[in-house]
Amino acid sequence: MASNKPKKSLLNLQSKLAVTLFFILVFTIPALLLLHTPSTLTCTNLSASKETWSGNVREAEFSWNRLRFVDKNPPMMTLRIAVFSRKWPTSANPGGMERHAQTLHTALALRGHQVHVFTSPAGDGVAPITTQEQVRSEGSWHPSLPIVHWHDGEPDKWRYNKAWEIFQEVNQSEPFDVVHSESVSLPFWLAKQVPKLAVSWHGIALESVQSSIYQDLARKPDEPISPAFNESLQGMIPKVLNEIRFFKNYAHHVAISDSCGEMLRDVYQIPSKRVHVIVNGVNEKDFHQDFRLGLMLRSKIGIPQNVSLVLGIAGRLVKDKGHPLLYEAFSKLKTKYPDVYLIVAGSGPWLQRYRELGSRVKVLGSVNPVELRAFYNAIDVFVNPTLRPQGLDLTLMEAMMSGKPVMASRFPSIKGTIVINDEFGFMFSPNVESLYEKLELAVAEGSERLAQRGKACLDYATSMFTARKMALAYERLFLCIKNETFCMYP
Ligand SMILES: *[C@@H]1O[C@H](CO)[C@@H](O)[C@H](O)[C@H]1NC(C)=O
Ligand SMILES: *[C@@H]1O[C@H](CO)[C@@H](O)[C@H](O)[C@H]1NC(C)=O
Ligand SMILES: *[C@@H]1O[C@H](CO)[C@@H](O)[C@H](O)[C@H]1NC(C)=O
Ligand SMILES: *[C@@H]1O[C@H](CO)[C@@H](O)[C@H](O)[C@H]1NC(C)=O
Ligand SMILES: *[C@@H]1O[C@H](CO)[C@@H](O)[C@H](O)[C@H]1NC(C)=O
Repeated sequence: MASNKPKKSLLNLQSKLAVTLFFILVFTIPALLLLHTPSTLTCTNLSASKETWSGNVREAEFSWNRLRFVDKNPPMMTLRIAVFSRKWPTSANPGGMERHAQTLHTALALRGHQVHVFTSPAGDGVAPITTQEQVRSEGSWHPSLPIVHWHDGEPDKWRYNKAWEIFQEVNQSEPFDVVHSESVSLPFWLAKQVPKLAVSWHGIALESVQSSIYQDLARKPDEPISPAFNESLQGMIPKVLNEIRFFKNYAHHVAISDSCGEMLRDVYQIPSKRVHVIVNGVNEKDFHQDFRLGLMLRSKIGIPQNVSLVLGIAGRLVKDKGHPLLYEAFSKLKTKYPDVYLIVAGSGPWLQRYRELGSRVKVLGSVNPVELRAFYNAIDVFVNPTLRPQGLDLTLMEAMMSGKPVMASRFPSIKGTIVINDEFGFMFSPNVESLYEKLELAVAEGSERLAQRGKACLDYATSMFTARKMALAYERLFLCIKNETFCMYP
């Protein structure tokens, strides 16, 4: 019994120590943390990364770009990937769904995957390699480029059945692990025979309904409705219903914006586990911050050094991209603020109208990739008054990757994926008054504050919108389609 006593007091001592330690832990550490908080608060990091998330990626309802994928090279497994794309770019023309396909699949091929593209004959003068030669040349397959199988026939005329025939031939010699269809390149009646398939939607019919609403509301009271537009309205709802009925035949769906993912789950009734959000990426080599390049362009096109603000727009200068709105809003802005400039990159019917606005509108016309990079670096804020919420304009990502804040139409797609934080810029309802109000706000803030916003945009874009991030997210999806064990993240 007595021998127990010292032990007991030792125990007592231990428990006292434990209690003391406990109090130190409970009170001091949070206090230290509290002391620390102000510095983390003043330097808010707005990156949207889901660093601590874990689970089956197929269950993720947020965009996969938020995940951190380990850039293992070579990848966990090399895959044989078949791609169906109506077109395949053969020149440097920017934009389009096929440009996305090329950026993505070139990156995947570089990572060691065997990529075969099935597409229509090239239309812009480049001699397509005949399919037979392609199939035969497979023995000498080049590991770092996709193999392109052009079907025969008229240039740029997609014949899915011809592409399907070639695919079957190639698949017979060695089966593919996964099939990727850019939109309906592979029609649903063929797609439903392929269980390991993913389709990417760059815009769906429900989004075009929204588009019609925005476009008609932007019409002036005295402006008649165009017969073509009126006719397209008649077919709108049947088109959505048709899509909802056939979409389910595709095994896996990739939505390119968070809001499109939501529509596929909530309106199109596709099971959550088959809907994945992967936002398109832009090439970080093409778009980055370069102050010198921006200043050079400014001086080249005659923008004085002491101007207060330079706005920029880029893309096709057509009505449904909202140019009538900006044209009117800027006409008003320039009379009130004599040292605000606008740079217009791109071409289209509205180019001449912009030219008529005088010397404070600098119209560049069509630009090459280097000029486009200079353009983004020359502006203080990028304006995108689009009336078409189908998909997501890459120009928004390009501007952010160049460290610029954006001013864009308040669409679910833009709000849910691009301007997810007020710091990243401004959103307006697509009408002249609302746009003008935000333009005045930006003028009042000035270029220094806008540059600060631009820095936050750059951080966010770098974590979300690089082509590398997009390729790694698709790679994980294809791996997960091939073998469920790859679906577990991290
Ligand atoms: C925010 O976080 C990202 C990724 O975690 C990092 O790359 C970036 O430098 C951070 N930015 C700031 C301002 O701390
Ligand atoms: C590709 O070939 C494999 C193996 O022969 C076969 O199981 C599969 O069904 C083929 N895929 C298609 C889409 O025909
Ligand atoms: C629009 O289409 C409807 C139905 O086809 C027709 O009744 C109406 O007159 C058209 N309106 C205009 C302005 O074309
Ligand atoms: C900028 O400089 C020009 C010529 O040097 C001058 O006329 C103009 O008033 C200046 N503008 C501002 C906002 O300082
Ligand atoms: C999936 O991958 C795991 C781990 O690499 C392997 O054990 C399993 O056999 C694979 N399953 C199939 C169906 O290939």
